[in-house]
Amino acid sequence: MPGKGLEDIIAAETAISDIDGKLGRLFYVGYDIHELAPSSTFEEIVYLLHNLELPSKAQLEELNERLIAERELDAFVERLMPTMVEQTSPMSMLRTTVSAMSAYDPDGWDQSTEANYRKAMRLISRFATVIATFHRLRSNEQVLKANPKLSHAANFLYMLTGREPDEEFGRIFDVCLVLHADHTMNASTFAARVAASTLSDIHSAVTAAIATLKGPLHGGANEAVMKILLQIGSVEKVRDAVKAKLDAKEKIMGFGHRVYKTEDPRATHLRKLSKQIGEMVGDTRWYEMSLAMEEVVLEEKGLYPNVDFYAASVYYCLGIPVDLFTPVFAASRVSGWTAHIREQYADNRLIRPESAYVGPPHRSYVPIDQRG
Ligand code: COA
Repeated sequence: MPGKGLEDIIAAETAISDIDGKLGRLFYVGYDIHELAPSSTFEEIVYLLHNLELPSKAQLEELNERLIAERELDAFVERLMPTMVEQTSPMSMLRTTVSAMSAYDPDGWDQSTEANYRKAMRLISRFATVIATFHRLRSNEQVLKANPKLSHAANFLYMLTGREPDEEFGRIFDVCLVLHADHTMNASTFAARVAASTLSDIHSAVTAAIATLKGPLHGGANEAVMKILLQIGSVEKVRDAVKAKLDAKEKIMGFGHRVYKTEDPRATHLRKLSKQIGEMVGDTRWYEMSLAMEEVVLEEKGLYPNVDFYAASVYYCLGIPVDLFTPVFAASRVSGWTAHIREQYADNRLIRPESAYVGPPHRSYVPIDQRG
């Protein structure tokens, strides 16, 4: 019987990413995240995850042009989105919009390898537009056209906030996207691969992934972290507040991981970025509170921060609204999801595990008028 939650079960072979949980290391197609984070861009990572090699200059240029050309939403989605701004939460909006996007995808129901590559690039490019459009609509602000001169990260921030980020701001966000792009068989990627293994279409598989990322034990944790930081409010109050939560048997969001038994290597970079951006915006309170929380949780529970912990203060200082933290995670992770879906299609067998029955022994049906 496998461990509850399928712990330690190998569910698929993949060439896309690899984790060493004991040493706290993460690799994309063999490249260490510690080398990629300071040097690579999101566009380069998209190419790497989908082609299993780093691009040449010409290949990267071609991919950039493709992503820029795909930034606009189709008319159907543009009409649909205003109907969701009043009542729909951002992750539900994203799930519904991506599902709806399949209806007017220029490649229709073509499931060839080439069409699926085009659909993947379209989805990666448009996630940013969908999230920014939703936010502008709900804030009664003009929906902005994408700026083709900006990178994916900088354009995303521009369309969301209405301000073109300076180089350093844009770069910090770009590194966040690099760090969130893929992470082996996490719950949302697994959900995407299960859907793809039935030979369902790529939009359906990505929709399943969004639905799975939404929960607070997965992508929803970054939003929960920021809410806790805001609620606590100052460094002095951190120790008592965290201890009270632990005494009440509450989980502290942004800590612990199924695979990492030491520091999550993404947290190492996000901690630095949290300090850097705090200094840039002249408010290091969130960074300092995060450091204090980290100290207490390690002391009390022996748990390390995961990717969501320092991402929260970084996104906050970037001016991203708290309820968009998880959609922003999705806007990066869609690169990994689509790479995994295409990998699944390329060598598919239906994913259909067994279950261990623990119900009553097999018995005979009793007609309703004879039941006690
Ligand atoms: N705060 C407090 N205690 C925690 C904890 C946290 N964040 N994460 C795990 N624990 C404790 C559990 O309470 C449990 O203790 P117990 O054995 O005394 O009951 C033990 O550590 C094992 O936790 P469990 O939830 O079974 O581990 P898991 O491998 O199933 O869970 C996570 C991994 C990520 C779901 C879990 O650490 C968690 O819920 N973290 C908070 C949510 C989060 O940050 N998610 C983003 C992940 S990238």
